[in-house]
Amino acid sequence: PDNLRELARKLGIHIGTAVDVTALAEEDDYRRVLNREFTHITAENAMKWESVEPERGVYNWEGADAVVENARRNHQRVRGHTLVWHNQLPAWLTQGVESGEIDAAELRAILRDHIKKEVGRYRGKIRAWDVANEVIDDDGNMRQSIWLTHLGPGYIADAFRWARQADPHAKLYLNDYNLEWDTDKIDAYLNLVKQLQAQRVPLDGMGFQGHLGIQYDYPGDFPNVMRKFTDLGLEVAITEADARMVLPVTPEKLARQAEFFRDMLKTCAANRRCTEFTVWGFTDRHSWVPEWFEGEGAATPMDENLAPKPAYTAMLGVR
Ligand code: XIL
Repeated sequence: PDNLRELARKLGIHIGTAVDVTALAEEDDYRRVLNREFTHITAENAMKWESVEPERGVYNWEGADAVVENARRNHQRVRGHTLVWHNQLPAWLTQGVESGEIDAAELRAILRDHIKKEVGRYRGKIRAWDVANEVIDDDGNMRQSIWLTHLGPGYIADAFRWARQADPHAKLYLNDYNLEWDTDKIDAYLNLVKQLQAQRVPLDGMGFQGHLGIQYDYPGDFPNVMRKFTDLGLEVAITEADARMVLPVTPEKLARQAEFFRDMLKTCAANRRCTEFTVWGFTDRHSWVPEWFEGEGAATPMDENLAPKPAYTAMLGVR
């Protein structure tokens, strides 16, 4: 294969990327490479609650619409990200809850309306939704959030049911990080999945974010962990893959990073129920890593000038 789209076809999976909507609008080279290389796209921020409803009742769909429109024109599928999360909530919502102005009953109605409105708007245009993002913490406990505190753990089942009603054909996912190793967090998720299945909740998939750092050991357990979820009948996806490094970049680090991307992609390609391998940005020009991890960066398969790094070439070699 000469590019990732051809590779995706050959492997029988989708290969996707997160998209920065400002770059999509303003940078021709970014848009060209995006549409040449990827069969699937996720809005990096544009579908999050704070982006789509910055003021109560005031909606901004511009970025989200641009992602869906780019996908339509370029024969890409879309991952919707994300409906219920503890981060990137609009201030009106968190402050309203904190001050007591919004009580539990109203909060539940607000969540239902948010899901119905956003999922309904893109009905038929989203292959898979990250319905609930990061709902369990690293110790395996339900994550503290306004949702858990005010609505109780049943908010997760509710969210999936509302999403199914709004778009019966979208695949509905749980999604989280640090799921590439076999830890207590894995057991907690397996239990959650079984509980939801026992309650006939419309859960279709498990998303593994895949945010790795090459200064650590590669998670060799990943294929086994993935299989534990597909054995429960779920489809799975790697939804936000990147492999950050402590700067400066060296040839040795780039070679190690190439192995990380290759092995994550292989893990998806080797599991019949893994549908999608998505990177969290395809170029170091636009990546969340330098902003979020001090002293780290260069986490994607292409450099700032969109030149392929060893990671890109290593992925093309996966079979
Ligand atoms: C990140 C974005 O990449 C940043 O631009 C933003 O400032 C913060 O969120 N897990 C997720 C993603 O599910 O939504 C996060 O994206 C990265 C971690």
